[in-house]
Amino acid sequence: NKKGFIFDLDGVIVDTAKYHYLAWKKLANQLGFDFTEEQNEMFKGVSRKRCLEILLEIGDIKATQEQFDTWMVEKNVDYLQYIDKMDASEILPDVKKVLEFLVANKQPIALGSASKNAQPILEKVGLLPYFDSIVDGNNVTKAKPDPEVFLIAAKQLGVTPENCVVFEDAVAGIEAANNANMISIGIGDENVLNKADYNFKDFTEMPSDFLSNLIK
Ligand code: G6P
Ligand code: MG
Repeated sequence: NKKGFIFDLDGVIVDTAKYHYLAWKKLANQLGFDFTEEQNEMFKGVSRKRCLEILLEIGDIKATQEQFDTWMVEKNVDYLQYIDKMDASEILPDVKKVLEFLVANKQPIALGSASKNAQPILEKVGLLPYFDSIVDGNNVTKAKPDPEVFLIAAKQLGVTPENCVVFEDAVAGIEAANNANMISIGIGDENVLNKADYNFKDFTEMPSDFLSNLIK
């Protein structure tokens, strides 16, 4: 039985949330206010543009279009300095094991991420070859919780939405998967991701027969 497996990137495959945080914090500090890790939770799964809008609301800063564009670039340049140093050691626990199981069982795999840096990150950590399809911030017009990103991925994999399984660490991502009528699996805090069909703290907590039961 063939299913389609769709992975979010940041927070599911690699822990890049900490780098996004450092880059946003640097920009906030430069603009004269602080940005906490708690506030960073709101940024998970959210597009770069929307993140900057929220950041400026937090700092109560009104920007001209030109300033806004400059800060978008600055944040990303800073973020890319961290990404540049990434290697396979930053792949989250058991992610590779899960991908290898799916490949061995001929299950199609896609990436469904809001990030415009998704492809270079997968290349950096050496996971690009596992993916049959990559749908990221460059391919979508509507952000999660809109189901667009996952629906495009399902189409590219040739699998109906009901037969797709989504791994997500963000509330907006779980909502997007549910809105797409897909099976949603929360990776992270079950109290936060309480709308997910299933929840695991991380992939090491996923029972060994969980995936084989899904594709039975
Ligand atoms: C992911 C992250 C967000 C990030 C977004 C855009 O969804 O969880 O925190 O803002 O991607 O990433 P980008 O790499 O395009 O700035
Ligand atoms: Mg994420």
